[in-house]
Amino acid sequence: MDWTPKTIMEPFKIKAVEPIAITTRAERKAALEAAHYNPFSIAAEKVTIDFLTDSGTGAMSAAQWAALMNGDESYAGARSYYRFEKVVKELTGFEEIIPTHQGRAAEKILFQTIAKKGIYIISNSHFDTTRANVEYTGAEAVDFPAEGALDWEKPAPFKGNANVAAMEKFIKEKGAENIALCVMTVTNNSLGGQPVSMQNLKEVKELCSKYGIKMFLDTARFAENAYFIKTREPGYENRSIKEIAQEMYRLADGAWQSSKKDAIVNIGGWLAMNDKDLSLRCRQLLILMEGFNTYGGLAGRDLDAMAVGLEEVLNEDYLRYRIVSTEYLGNAMLDMGIPIINPPGGHGVYVDAKKYLPHIKPDQFPAQSLTCALYLEGGIRAVEIGMLMFGKRDENGKFLPADMELVRLAIPRRVYTQSHLDYVIEVFGHLTAHKEEINGLEVVEAADILPHFTAKLRPVSGK
Ligand code: F0G
Repeated sequence: MDWTPKTIMEPFKIKAVEPIAITTRAERKAALEAAHYNPFSIAAEKVTIDFLTDSGTGAMSAAQWAALMNGDESYAGARSYYRFEKVVKELTGFEEIIPTHQGRAAEKILFQTIAKKGIYIISNSHFDTTRANVEYTGAEAVDFPAEGALDWEKPAPFKGNANVAAMEKFIKEKGAENIALCVMTVTNNSLGGQPVSMQNLKEVKELCSKYGIKMFLDTARFAENAYFIKTREPGYENRSIKEIAQEMYRLADGAWQSSKKDAIVNIGGWLAMNDKDLSLRCRQLLILMEGFNTYGGLAGRDLDAMAVGLEEVLNEDYLRYRIVSTEYLGNAMLDMGIPIINPPGGHGVYVDAKKYLPHIKPDQFPAQSLTCALYLEGGIRAVEIGMLMFGKRDENGKFLPADMELVRLAIPRRVYTQSHLDYVIEVFGHLTAHKEEINGLEVVEAADILPHFTAKLRPVSGK
């Protein structure tokens, strides 16, 4: 009898285990106070479930660990490089493959080569480090999210898309000659890990071709995006994940990747393109700042692990488990009436803290307050995407309320099991029953640049 099981179990068994902290509320309270209400300052050993990021936090497979031993640490022309290059070439179709130590190094090399003051970079949404690397050159990073992308609660299949009409209007206004690049981030991390459709990629490419602008993909989560295309976009049901990913890359003029996500490695990245002149100029900066062409700031063994990871991640059983387990968490939260970006993203669930905690005033860090409460009640570490991260202040240095007050629960790959997610759901149930008791926060001390990493806060007095 043919049948399909309902249980989406982890499609792997566990060979090496690492203990996680089981702490008391009193211990967590002390840790939170010592960290000045900033989860970035809590030692990882005191965290039970670490959802701070899915970047570099995945579990490598036995095949990847084995590949490490095979690493060739030759300075130039290492076997590891050629193995890595072959895999990236086959996946992307690009000729020039430049290894970098992580995604932002690829961004730095690329934008220092093509951007400067007076120039614009357009995107569905720039990730923070992408924006920072664009702006560091003096250029401006401008986002064109799809209509409805900011309507958190209304589900749509491809909320990561770009708004093509708005992009074209901008190109006409500013002049195509002032736009150095169009970046499509797949999946769209800044707006909830939402996917971009193949149709949208085609339309953006067509627009770019019309105006002679290059389109690059920022592909940290390319396999998750391909899985969403397969399951949500008509016409792709019967295509393999690899074929879909190959089609995505072949629409573009170039791409980069933080391999710490979908290549399931702890460190690594790359930049790839066909344009030989541009790659030569990027390689000059690579050698200056990262390392020689065939290792780019990595050890040879890292390149081997990436080569294996890039193929493993295309496994459909893995991707189904990955996306369905994120959905499992997100849907359980929706069932409890918790406002999240709907549908849940590929790599995480994003809570709308402003809506969830309406009693916390908009200038009292609603999302940061929720991240602290999650740690205090459950030892769960998440990240604030709100007024602390955006860091906008008035002339007296007071932080200003932000439109977006989100808490991102980013799920590391192959690290936690379904029972860990059940635990997180239980913590949310408990929090929801007591959410009126969660206090707002105020800043005691904050740096001028990227304040969220190091800021010190305290509960608003009088509460
Ligand atoms: N692009 C995207 C879409 C990213 O999500 C990230 C990193 C980068 C580029 C930069 O790559 O970290 O390897 O230098 N995102 C991490 C996160 C940090 O938590 O979402 P990196």
